[in-house]
Amino acid sequence: MKFSRRDFAKIIGTAALGASTIPALGAGGKETEGLSNALQNGTGKFPDGFLWGSATASYQVEGAVAEDGRKPSIWDTFSHTPGKTVEGATGDVANDHYHRYKEDVQLMKSLGVKTYRFSIAWPRVFPDGTGQPNPKGLDFYNRLVDELLKNGIEPFATLYHWDLPQVMQDKYGGWESRTTSEAFANYAGYTAEKLSDRVKHFFTINEFGAFMEVGYRWGVHAPGLKLPPGRFNQARHYAVLGHGLAVEAIRAKAKADTRIGLAENMTICAPVIETPEHVEAATKAARELNAQYMTVIQEGKYTDLYLENAGKDAPKFTDAELKTISSRLDFAGINIYTPTYIRADGSKQGFAVVPHPSSFPHAPSPWLFVGPEALYWGPRHVHKLWGVKEIYITENGCSAADVPAADGKVYDTDRVTYLRNYLAQLQRATVDGVPVKGYFLWSLMDNFEWADGYTNRFGIHYVDYKTQKRTPKLSAEFYKAVIARNGLV
Ligand code: NOJ
Repeated sequence: MKFSRRDFAKIIGTAALGASTIPALGAGGKETEGLSNALQNGTGKFPDGFLWGSATASYQVEGAVAEDGRKPSIWDTFSHTPGKTVEGATGDVANDHYHRYKEDVQLMKSLGVKTYRFSIAWPRVFPDGTGQPNPKGLDFYNRLVDELLKNGIEPFATLYHWDLPQVMQDKYGGWESRTTSEAFANYAGYTAEKLSDRVKHFFTINEFGAFMEVGYRWGVHAPGLKLPPGRFNQARHYAVLGHGLAVEAIRAKAKADTRIGLAENMTICAPVIETPEHVEAATKAARELNAQYMTVIQEGKYTDLYLENAGKDAPKFTDAELKTISSRLDFAGINIYTPTYIRADGSKQGFAVVPHPSSFPHAPSPWLFVGPEALYWGPRHVHKLWGVKEIYITENGCSAADVPAADGKVYDTDRVTYLRNYLAQLQRATVDGVPVKGYFLWSLMDNFEWADGYTNRFGIHYVDYKTQKRTPKLSAEFYKAVIARNGLV
């Protein structure tokens, strides 16, 4: 039988009509009519009290870079250096969140999020890195925190999301020096002391695995260095030491009920196939491939293999430093976007990394391979390897093309699909008893995507940078429905 174009159009049309004969949500009849049985039966639910949130970071949204005493960070310098960011973009204005934070809190409120993860700019609080604090800089976060609490949204604060005061780089070589680790701890303790009457959760450092690797090794992010291996490993050590010293300082200065963790973009090791031998290999890999950051923080030692492979380039450290680095944490935060596939093999390490084939689906950000099971394996490894009992997904989301349609809306079905599939895997983790307590979607709104400037949009609200108008995308509607149901939709 032959189909003409017309027949085809007819069939498609009928299918579309068919869809409209299914009662729409809320369009008369029972609210649940038209939903799949699984959803009606309560499957796909998250644990009661699950903390749904969204996230941003200071330099990516605030703007107001010279206001109220803030001095430059390494990202101001880097983004103002010709050729370092796409189209020479800078965070000078970004989303103007510094002035529009009240409007942005309303975006959160309308989503129904229970919590918001933001970061505090070190150069606002200590413009010179150390020495005299700047009360006007801290006041912005006082205002923001008060506004969040007034609207029933719990603040989670990150103390370092990459905006190192420029002076620390100029004077001490940034994270190449222990002085920076100590200065960070001083700033962290001071800030937590001032805010911990209202902020109960602090993350020390965001993504060692990005700002160190991309900024100090590949030179693609601020401060744009390509350190040789020995110096680089030492800098990694001072970064995790900064985390440990900050944990100690926060414990010493903040209110007793303050909870402390970090937000790390671990390498997420997913077994190529979920059979026992590959699962075992992926678990080994999760420990080894995170040796420089998460593993030493959790275990208080560098793995033998890491030290052996580094050889003469291994970092120099003391037992006392390892003890500080592994100071007790109350929770772990993991930023998860993409999996690294692992298979079992007969090598000494017992695993091999399987590179993504060139045809592997990815978001516009070329590193963002779409592998939803990352959201299952990430928290599971953290729980199984180190017995962590409170885990947050501190970032998850994706970039998308995000072109407004004729009606002005952004139908980001790709992002919705991404989120739906990833959240299903997160829900699987909770069913398997992995103690994931919350999820922060990256990002509340489009923002300054570092070296990619404003070209890669990650928000669930579209930002028109000419007018600073925020418009909810389809993914915002989706996320709102997930939160309302506390489950998959
Ligand atoms: C992780 C970083 O923490 C965040 O700043 C960045 O925008 C997202 N990944 C997306 O690349």
